[in-house]
Amino acid sequence: MRLTLHDLRRSAAERKITMLTCYDAAFAALLDHAGIDSLLIGDSLGMVIQGHDSTLPVTLEQVCYHTQAVARGSQRTFIVADMPFGSYQASAQQGFESAARLMQAGAQMVKLEGGEEMSPTIAFMVERGVPVCAHVGLTPQHVNRFGGYRVQGRGQAADRVRSGARAVVQAGAEMIVIEAVPEALAREIASECTALSIGIGASSACSGQVLVLHDMLGVTRGKRPRFVKNFLIGAGSVEAAARAYMAQVQSGAFPGPEHAYSDSN
Ligand code: KIV
Repeated sequence: MRLTLHDLRRSAAERKITMLTCYDAAFAALLDHAGIDSLLIGDSLGMVIQGHDSTLPVTLEQVCYHTQAVARGSQRTFIVADMPFGSYQASAQQGFESAARLMQAGAQMVKLEGGEEMSPTIAFMVERGVPVCAHVGLTPQHVNRFGGYRVQGRGQAADRVRSGARAVVQAGAEMIVIEAVPEALAREIASECTALSIGIGASSACSGQVLVLHDMLGVTRGKRPRFVKNFLIGAGSVEAAARAYMAQVQSGAFPGPEHAYSDSN
């Protein structure tokens, strides 16, 4: 039986939730067997699978294709699929139509990026039966607005991230991903948030953590963000690495202070 959002909420009352990105059936089966709670078909596939330097070229058809593969490969994990750039920003109607395609491909929840500006779209989708995860902080689809992959919410910019998180939860998002914000801000958002909070470069106070699979296996090249940890080192196998990630997230050992950002560094 596949885990539901209800199951994740019940688990989060007792321990941390574990999520990894996944894009194919083979890794989905392996991670499912390891016992990971949730798999995210992230639009990071544009970078780690397709070799682009951003997530922007990824299409809805491609995320549907990878979602179908992950759904076929797994039996138990909760499946979240990313809504790619251009598939939901034009209108709430467009968002719903794209989300419907992803859910028909096997997603149990869809993830979109943004704060207050996305609230009407989130409310529209939720009212029509789509569980929504909102991604706040460093939202990679905004890389050209941000001028790079930079930590968000430092100093006065904290207000924008804080109010964005409040707005998406108010609109009905039942999960939020908080990426690359100062630890204190992430902790504050997570502690006041009624939705499940999933951190990446955020805080161990979140309800759970997510990493890009290829990052946690150490197969991505180039400069790695501070929040990445290679769990394959010393593990001996991909499944053992997944289990080590789960154990460290669940015990609160990961992320440690060295994986977090402050207001100044
Ligand atoms: O696309 C992705 O993989 C993501 C995670 C980094 C959260 O959005």
